[in-house]
Amino acid sequence: MIEIKDGIYWVGAVDWNIRNFHGYITHRGTTYNAYLIMDEKVALIDTVKAPFYSEMMQRIEEIVNPEDIDYLISNHTEPDHSGSITKFLKVAENAELIASEMGKRGLKSYYGEDLGCTSIKDKPSISLGSRTLQFVAVPMVHWPDSMVTYIPEEKLLIPNDAFGQHLATSERFDDEVDQAILMHEAKTYYANIVMPLWMSVSRAFKSLEGLEIDMIAPSHGVIWRSRPNMILEAYQRWVEGVSKSRAVIVYDTMWGSTEMVAKALVKGITREGVKVQLYRLNVTHNSDVIADVLEARAVLVGSPTLNNGLFPTVASFLTYMKGLRPKNKIGAVFGSYGWGGGAKRAAEAELKIAGIELVESNLDFNYRPTEEDLKRAEDFGREIAKKIISE
Ligand code: FEO
Repeated sequence: MIEIKDGIYWVGAVDWNIRNFHGYITHRGTTYNAYLIMDEKVALIDTVKAPFYSEMMQRIEEIVNPEDIDYLISNHTEPDHSGSITKFLKVAENAELIASEMGKRGLKSYYGEDLGCTSIKDKPSISLGSRTLQFVAVPMVHWPDSMVTYIPEEKLLIPNDAFGQHLATSERFDDEVDQAILMHEAKTYYANIVMPLWMSVSRAFKSLEGLEIDMIAPSHGVIWRSRPNMILEAYQRWVEGVSKSRAVIVYDTMWGSTEMVAKALVKGITREGVKVQLYRLNVTHNSDVIADVLEARAVLVGSPTLNNGLFPTVASFLTYMKGLRPKNKIGAVFGSYGWGGGAKRAAEAELKIAGIELVESNLDFNYRPTEEDLKRAEDFGREIAKKIISE
């Protein structure tokens, strides 16, 4: 356990080896953070994913007898945080479980109708003695039940999923880890989990307006002790959809033709001085590509036609991106086909559904692109770069 403020302890668990978090590739693992607050009354905020129950309990028992815990606050129903609740309550039999109204319903659905749970409608805040726990519902950050716990006397925000990172480390604080890795993981987490919920995050920011915050203790990754403003400002930018002058080209290829077009686009874009990142989907996971899409202004998608439709890896990526609905992007499609074609039309339809502003392209080539075709692709790359720069 780690004391994060006087009498407030991190008692969570480190999941070093998780590499797939509901479809999102977590290269650096994650943590499930739970926080124990020692006061006249004792409260535990969130639990951990079920297989990590013992790890959490060992930490708690170093500090307090679980029977002396008065409250268990469930900020979020998703089982990576609620998975140990029933086991915990069997040991901490005096603890009152508190959750949002939607949380109460969700927890009963997961763990049984007989689970006792108080709604924050009835207890919007509780006093622990020298500290107060204030509960603020933030629906859809990440599920309808999500809420944050704020401790005004400590200026401490415990926002569950918001401001997290899937980052397993032996360190617990933002100033103890590599800053580039930290922000990369915070960005990747936002892109893969929070991005489609930007309106809810924006509403949550309004609900939390005016709160003094000097520490943010999320439910995944490290605690923002030294630079809480860095992550708050990053979220503001991401919520607004602020883009950088860069493009992402994502493609797959069957016999190399679509790849030739992708590389001609790279040439055109870079010749105008705009940065570009190229990803082939048979070697890159959708969740890694999306992390770069978040701050790029343009997304160019290339697919060969297979059986009159999209190449499967490209179809998978477009389905993934469509769900995450990146904000303020322009996009275009390119590819190759043998006879009937069909991938370009299908990819354009998917981009439109994803809310991406389509730039009309004429880059779907029969069998092998000629030198002239590749010049056309390069010129189109320049056109995209100019659009990016002009904004
Ligand atoms: Fe970390 Fe939405 O659970």
